[in-house]
Amino acid sequence: MEMEVFIRVLVSLLVSGALLIWGWRILKWVWLKPKKLEKWLRQQGVTGNPYRFLSGDIRENFSMIRQARSKPMPLSDDIVPYVSPFLHQHVNKYGKNSFMWIGPRPRVTLMDPEDIKDVFNKFNDFPKPDINPLLRLLIPGLVSLEGDKWAKHRKIINPAFHQDKLKNMLSAFYHSATEITSKWEKMVAMEGSSEVDVWPYLVNLTRDAISRAAFGSSYEEGKRIFQLLEEQTGLAIQVIRSVYIPGRR
Ligand SMILES: *[C@@H]1O[C@H](CO)[C@@H](O)[C@H](O)[C@H]1NC(C)=O
Ligand SMILES: *[C@@H]1O[C@H](CO)[C@@H](O)[C@H](O)[C@H]1NC(C)=O
Repeated sequence: MEMEVFIRVLVSLLVSGALLIWGWRILKWVWLKPKKLEKWLRQQGVTGNPYRFLSGDIRENFSMIRQARSKPMPLSDDIVPYVSPFLHQHVNKYGKNSFMWIGPRPRVTLMDPEDIKDVFNKFNDFPKPDINPLLRLLIPGLVSLEGDKWAKHRKIINPAFHQDKLKNMLSAFYHSATEITSKWEKMVAMEGSSEVDVWPYLVNLTRDAISRAAFGSSYEEGKRIFQLLEEQTGLAIQVIRSVYIPGRR
């Protein structure tokens, strides 16, 4: 009898202990940690909205996106307010160094090139955000690599972006762009005026220009690589849009 009481007390103690620990962790996750991070960020001169319980800035973000998308896209080069209304408003309001809340996690926006350089140089201190493991399989390389591996790949591709190299590619870009504008000119000449969906042309323009610049004589081979990349991008977008359930692999 006494043994039974003892076991009951023990079990209820364990259960309430576990509940306490869980409760503490949840409290830390949804309130204490975000508030602490907010304090530290403000001390460093980074500003943003005060943390709102659990949802952070997510709700405001979505309602601004919904509102922006309910109107037709403006015919102007200033597309940021349409594409990314929350970020646009945020940067205007809080300046170049700001944070926003993805739920209980702050995301810091840096716009000063020196700060950005600092982050890129300390690649071991600033790992990438977690990505869907399926995506990691689909887009190996710079996008998903970390640490020393990332640095190595980065070093290999760097010379391709030196100004001298880019200058050599100008004629390839010029060639591809003229091809498309002359196509458009023909369309307009035939009908006097014409509405054109430029998206497929811009896709082709990018592909052609890079194929010409990077593959030169084996231009057709370059095009094939781009077809494959397009397929891969389609798959990656499917993955991004789906919810990843751990263990699904
Ligand atoms: C706002 O929504 C966009 C599109 O879904 C997303 O990329 C961005 O991270 C969101 N920002 C915040 C602060 O929730
Ligand atoms: C884009 O390129 C593909 C393949 O070369 C071609 O079939 C298609 O007609 C091009 N699209 C446009 C809009 O020029």
